[in-house]
Amino acid sequence: VPLRHGYTGGPARAFRLGAAGLAEFPIARWGDLARRRWDSAGPAALDYGVVAGYAPLRTAIARYLAVSRSVRCEPDQVLIVNGTQQALDLIARVLLNPGEQAWLEDPGYDGARGALVAAGARVVPVPVDHEGLDVAAGVRRAPRAKLAYVTPAHQFPLGSTMSLPRRLDLLRWAHKARAWLIEDDYDGEFRYVNRPLASLQGLDTAGCVIYTGTFSKALFPALRLGYLVVPAALIQTFIKVRFFLDVHTPTFMQTVLADFITEGHFERHLLRTRIRCRERREALRAGLQRDLGGLLEVESSEGGMHVLAWLPEHVSDREAARRAAAEGIDTLPLSAFAQTRLSRGALVLGYAGLTPDDIASGTKRLARALHPLRRQVRGRRRDPRPSSPGPREP
Ligand SMILES: Cc1ncc(COP(=O)(O)O)c(C=O)c1O
Repeated sequence: VPLRHGYTGGPARAFRLGAAGLAEFPIARWGDLARRRWDSAGPAALDYGVVAGYAPLRTAIARYLAVSRSVRCEPDQVLIVNGTQQALDLIARVLLNPGEQAWLEDPGYDGARGALVAAGARVVPVPVDHEGLDVAAGVRRAPRAKLAYVTPAHQFPLGSTMSLPRRLDLLRWAHKARAWLIEDDYDGEFRYVNRPLASLQGLDTAGCVIYTGTFSKALFPALRLGYLVVPAALIQTFIKVRFFLDVHTPTFMQTVLADFITEGHFERHLLRTRIRCRERREALRAGLQRDLGGLLEVESSEGGMHVLAWLPEHVSDREAARRAAAEGIDTLPLSAFAQTRLSRGALVLGYAGLTPDDIASGTKRLARALHPLRRQVRGRRRDPRPSSPGPREP
């Protein structure tokens, strides 16, 4: 599984995927809370902590998830981890034996693919469409898979929301096949149309969903804090494996985060960030329409922190991404997330960390970078030969 370029570090730039508004994060408030904790710290704060996580933080997360995501759990089902990536690693270690099959959305999250491959899983690509994972296709390909990874709130990277019938089909299959489902709710807080859908975990009556969430999007990714909600029957095994992995997440930041949530700062920050993200999303959609209309077609989506823009058929998304990079614009080709050939390429464009001005100048530069591709499209229109295979390069 290739390591994605530009994944880590660097300043916000158009149109790198990233967290929302790091520039607007209330750093001073966070600093005050950290100082208060540190000033009152005694020897106990320096000792080993609880493997599953700091209890008040687990309680705060369980409450938040119940209200905002319809997750049903007790605080002792919540395990604090170092972000989603560790959650995925832990799940794969606990639930998979080498050689067992795992469904993965295709196109899908490379982070999940990496964790599954590292655990020795045989990854089975399962197509996704505007209703999310195609469960029937998964059942045809690997009916006895041990696990399925899904992003139901906002499919990564297509952006679709998994429909209720598909959610119920997936749960029925998992129950029947005695398979586990990983629900990665990485940006479920960021939904701009209608009310958020209930989580898959909230619909699960058989205890087969392991839910994961992160503070990378809603707060900041350097925090490396996320959580798992584990069915009660698996808790002790997860705690044991976590101990042998790296014992626990550093306690100090967990205490600061617990204060940040329980004192209402998280809620306020989330509200402001959601409004800002929606404005930025609108700015990007408007900019793409204004500067790249006729070349890029924006996929509709109800939330998230990135936009997917389809290229015309026969235009390679890797070539488009290369051309954009030469103009100093970061984009990710959809084909980088696909395991099977796509019939059409697209660019994944992040906007959450960009001001409307950055976005407007970014779409102009992207239009300049992709201008030569318009000629390719016009040439094709004059060429009556039947279409060649999709735009994906090997
Ligand atoms: C699908 C998906 N899951 C999870 C994450 C967050 O990962 P982490 O919590 O490890 O920072 C991302 C970040 O881009 C993502 O795209």
